[in-house]
Amino acid sequence: MSDTPKLTRRPEWTALENHRAGRQPHLRELFAADPSRAERYTVRVGDLRIDYSKHLVTDETLGLLRELAAATDVFGLRDAMFRGEKINVTENRAVLHTALRAPRDAVIEVDGENVVPRVHEVLDKMSDFANRVRSGEWTGHTGKRIRNVVNIGIGGSDLGPAMAYEVLRPYTDRGLTLRFVSNVDGADLHEATRDLDPAETLFIVASKTFTTIETITNATSARSWLLKGLGGDEKAVAKHFVALSTNTQKVTEFGIDVDNMFEFWDWVGGRYSYDSAIGLSLMIAIGPDRFREMLDGFRIVDDHFRNAPAEANAPLLLGLLGVWYGNFFDAQTHAVLPYSHYLSKFTAYLQQLDMESNGKSVQRDGEPVQWQTGPVVWGTPGTNGQHAYYQLIHQGTKLIPADFIGFANPVAELSDELKAQHDLLMANLFAQGQALAFGKTAEEVRAEGVPEEQVPHRTFHGNHPTTTILATELTPSVLGQLIALYEHKVFVQGAIWNIDSFDQWGVELGKVLAKRVEPALTEGADVPGLDPSTAALVAAYRTLRK
Ligand code: F6P
Repeated sequence: MSDTPKLTRRPEWTALENHRAGRQPHLRELFAADPSRAERYTVRVGDLRIDYSKHLVTDETLGLLRELAAATDVFGLRDAMFRGEKINVTENRAVLHTALRAPRDAVIEVDGENVVPRVHEVLDKMSDFANRVRSGEWTGHTGKRIRNVVNIGIGGSDLGPAMAYEVLRPYTDRGLTLRFVSNVDGADLHEATRDLDPAETLFIVASKTFTTIETITNATSARSWLLKGLGGDEKAVAKHFVALSTNTQKVTEFGIDVDNMFEFWDWVGGRYSYDSAIGLSLMIAIGPDRFREMLDGFRIVDDHFRNAPAEANAPLLLGLLGVWYGNFFDAQTHAVLPYSHYLSKFTAYLQQLDMESNGKSVQRDGEPVQWQTGPVVWGTPGTNGQHAYYQLIHQGTKLIPADFIGFANPVAELSDELKAQHDLLMANLFAQGQALAFGKTAEEVRAEGVPEEQVPHRTFHGNHPTTTILATELTPSVLGQLIALYEHKVFVQGAIWNIDSFDQWGVELGKVLAKRVEPALTEGADVPGLDPSTAALVAAYRTLRK
């Protein structure tokens, strides 16, 4: 047991509880009382303008939250992370995704070794390879140019590159087809390869551990598909398979030459890895220069998180606001609502980042937590969600803090007619934020001549908290800035809740049990210890199976 006071017994926590128990002014009142609120509660970081004025906070609330951050030494842990200390306590590892975007001349040591030269060595190797594929210099076994790239990976070895590829589609080489296979359901690989010519297809096997059953199974099937398509010559593998991993031995055992391996390290968590070698597919799609622009974007927010004072530190503020709602308003979820079609996979990416990091119920020393930790993160791009679940956010019984993300400009390659739709898109974003915050009073509804019996149904209480993140346009750098913003926000919350945000033991049990159940399905073997429900399901499956 550590001597650190329990979070909920800290005086800073009690002060927040007392503050919460006091009168909470409606956002309508808060804005009426302070004409400068929108400006005062806006923070600018790089190309991001982050408006947090529509939150249920006053200067006093923010001050108390910052005191909690100080008491829990968020900035101390932040500095330890940037220094390369082993803050991932359960795995005894450094947490250095920030080193992946450090400049060449930076010095960041892990176990006495400066890791930055190795980061740049791999980036250079990736750049060289990406350029060779993009130019057609790297050809397949039969001499044909590579036109299709299939990334095989799951979790952090899939969601990051898959998300970023969608986000940066306008920057991609449109002559290349990129696909992402993650699911062990054979349908995923089937659909990804059914219309591809093996002679023109490069597989990127992405796995930090190179032991993940889904990835190894899919990679093995992809290898068979390739060899079948190319006449069975094993030598073809070297021209059509590369690996992204920390595990040289397993990569070699799989039959991929180490020359075709792009390395990263155990101090990069899977969900923090798409700016490492895991981003190779993305780099092939957008080119090394754009990839480096994205890394520059990450670095802008890293530097900000490291240096900005608490009052103007965006990841700190966003993290604290999440703590305010999760721990003092019992909010269970957090919606991320991007108003950009290109951000269609953004929230799915954040789900792993946030929920795998902060879905924990024990503290760093193993003691159970007695407070809420990470929220359920969800959401899809607007305006689609407006016609599906926004009703519940507006008029349901749950408090759902939400982030809106939008851009002042549409992407350059749209036709003028499609660009003109952008104002309508953004009008919706702004309108939703306004409606959620200010609602519509019964008096306003009555004044419109609405019959009395309908007034309650058409009244919007408002006071729903939202953050609006507005950027000029969706560039590689802006994507890097957004991802780093959320990475550090998640960090802040984990630090306050005193949990290890960098392990993921919770996914292990399911993996172990799946391995145990599989022989019952494939060979009909007896599996001792199956519970009655699962045993009945397994029996039914075997009977129904053709
Ligand atoms: O889901 C657990 C997990 O370990 C993630 O953290 C990781 O991103 C994913 O599996 C894939 O792991 P790997 O890259 O080792 O195949």
